[in-house]
Amino acid sequence: MTLSPKTAHESLINMTELVLPNDTNTFGNLMGGRLMYWMDIAAALACMKHCAAPVVTASVDNISFETPIKLGNVVHIEAKVTRAFNTSIEVHMRVWGEDPVLQYRYKSNEAFMTFVALDPNGKARSVPAIIAESEEEKKLFDGALRRRQLRLILSGKMKPADAGELKALFAGEIEG
Ligand SMILES: CC(C)(COP(=O)(O)OP(=O)(O)OC[C@H]1O[C@@H](n2cnc3c(N)ncnc32)[C@H](O)[C@@H]1OP(=O)(O)O)[C@@H](O)C(=O)NCCC(=O)NCCS
Repeated sequence: MTLSPKTAHESLINMTELVLPNDTNTFGNLMGGRLMYWMDIAAALACMKHCAAPVVTASVDNISFETPIKLGNVVHIEAKVTRAFNTSIEVHMRVWGEDPVLQYRYKSNEAFMTFVALDPNGKARSVPAIIAESEEEKKLFDGALRRRQLRLILSGKMKPADAGELKALFAGEIEG
């Protein structure tokens, strides 16, 4: 069965949370684990919007926490699918904190996660392709191939010798 492609924009999810005392560490900042939990949910929702099927988290790329988000501040998570492969989907997320009293936003972090769509028997199933429209969506779409190769090498599912896109990057044939 051929699935109709969908735009990246159609998968967009905007999640908003308030940092409460039970979400923080002893410094009064949002715990990294709680943020990753919310990010996992936002990303899964973007994937389900894209493929209209249940999904499981296959992998999480590295996450650097640039700026702490304070107790009483708001967390904004934007999640959007960058590219879909056969059964797997890559999602890009941007996270901001917001001081609701002083009304300013600050960037917290960015991350990529990969999900696999499942059929009713729990087996991986095909997903629709992505149509990248904006310049940014096209850049993320192009980069998804080498990010996929890197994570499959790191998880022992691909031989470095087979990672053509990555090799081209290091050989300077394509822009990073
Ligand atoms: C993710 C999972 C479905 C992959 O199943 P699998 O049989 O090992 O995978 P396959 O080799 O058949 O590959 C299926 C897809 O997963 C992708 N995949 C597998 N491991 C991956 C990884 N570490 N990172 C990114 N993608 C991965 C493959 O590239 C493939 O994608 P494609 O069809 O688009 O090419 C399976 O490992 C699983 O169910 N894991 C547990 C998921 C879970 O419980 N997550 C919650 C957090 S613990």
